Amino acid sequence: MKTAIVYYSKHHGNTKKLLDAIAKQGDVTFIDASSSQHADLFGYDLIGFASGIYYSKFHDSVLQFAEKNLPHGKRVFLIYTYGMKRKSYTDAIKQIIESKDVQLEGAYGCPGFDTFGPFKLIGGIQKGRPNDEDIAGAVTFFLEIAVPV
Ligand SMILES: Cc1cc2nc3c(=O)[nH]c(=O)nc-3n(C[C@H](O)[C@H](O)[C@H](O)COP(=O)(O)O)c2cc1C
Repeated sequence: MKTAIVYYSKHHGNTKKLLDAIAKQGDVTFIDASSSQHADLFGYDLIGFASGIYYSKFHDSVLQFAEKNLPHGKRVFLIYTYGMKRKSYTDAIKQIIESKDVQLEGAYGCPGFDTFGPFKLIGGIQKGRPNDEDIAGAVTFFLEIAVPV
């Protein structure tokens, strides 16, 4: 089972904390969408897209990467962290992957420390998140999906 995860995690490295725990679970290749916009994903069985939420969606670099490089017919999963919970955060990335005849295996989202804009004035929101429980949840989510079909 070869897995690639394309990610963007810059605000506080919140999403990367989830990915670092997943990295210990097996053969996973990580691609930072902020430094590389091209990769051959044909050889991977499972492809993850992971991002902090930026202006109500996955970061543009991840959306653009998916648009350009996601082959048709792959198994895909989503991982994200946010300041304030809202269901619509995955809409834009889902729209892209749906256009590529892809099987969406699931999405995992949890809070991440957020000091953007006015939140900085009050010391940020979601302090300490993702916490150990959030990270364990991401690992469980990944392991349930990363089984050969
Ligand atoms: C420019 C910017 C825009 C953001 N927009 C949102 C948003 O629309 N909704 C939200 O819940 N959080 C928003 N956040 C908070 C981040 O999604 C949250 O802190 C996330 O955990 C950051 O992930 P990262 O550290 O992996 O990049 C924003 C943060 C920044 C810096």
